[in-house]
Amino acid sequence: MNIDAYSALRQGEMVLLYDFDDRERETDLAIRSDMITAPDICRMRNEAGGLICTAIPFLAAQTLGLPFAREVLRNCAMVEKLGDIPYDPSNNSSFSLWVNHRDTFTGITDRDRTKTVTSIAEIVQAVLSGERPSFKEQFRTPGHMPILIAAEKLLSQRHGQTELSVAMAEMAGINPTITICEMLDDESGYALSKEDAMRYAHRHNLAFIEGSEVLDRWEKASFPV
Ligand code: 5RP
Ligand code: CA
Ligand code: ZN
Repeated sequence: MNIDAYSALRQGEMVLLYDFDDRERETDLAIRSDMITAPDICRMRNEAGGLICTAIPFLAAQTLGLPFAREVLRNCAMVEKLGDIPYDPSNNSSFSLWVNHRDTFTGITDRDRTKTVTSIAEIVQAVLSGERPSFKEQFRTPGHMPILIAAEKLLSQRHGQTELSVAMAEMAGINPTITICEMLDDESGYALSKEDAMRYAHRHNLAFIEGSEVLDRWEKASFPV
């Protein structure tokens, strides 16, 4: 059965999002952040195993005063250098700050991370509705939820799961705050292969979508900004 990834995303279901054969060749579990639950976080850490992050649009990050980590760390010894991310032509990681909502305890439990993620979705929605909420009043850093900022020109500029997931949310007409986690392979020590990720999707009745399909739809829908 071919499950529509956009309907699945709209309904708050996990979607498997593969990037490109000439990029990371990784599949992320992806889910809309405003509907994420503690069992979803639990599934991501147990069945995907990568880093659980929340992707948000550039404009929302800018309005909230959230920087790219690379900008904050520019004067530190270990900041990214040109060529550090050879598989992405933009050569920039999308990492911003790692945060906890102030109403969490340690910040790492499934319940705490759910609180942080759903609150990030709420504050992004508030910004997109024209409000100007204070990020620091609600969140502290360092924390346990890495925020990823999509490139300003989205898929015209960068082709990571950060941009792919935000673009999918925009095309699905939902809150563009998506939580993603790389699927890793316990046996090989590498990322889960595309074929194994497709088998996982089939076994669990989940949608599998490739970056090329997202890009194609985005270009056809004249979404490029
Ligand atoms: C954060 C990452 C992941 O690869 C995630 O998919 C986002 O990164 P990108 O947009 O570069 O694909 O590194 O765990
Ligand atoms: Ca990725
Ligand atoms: Zn990665």
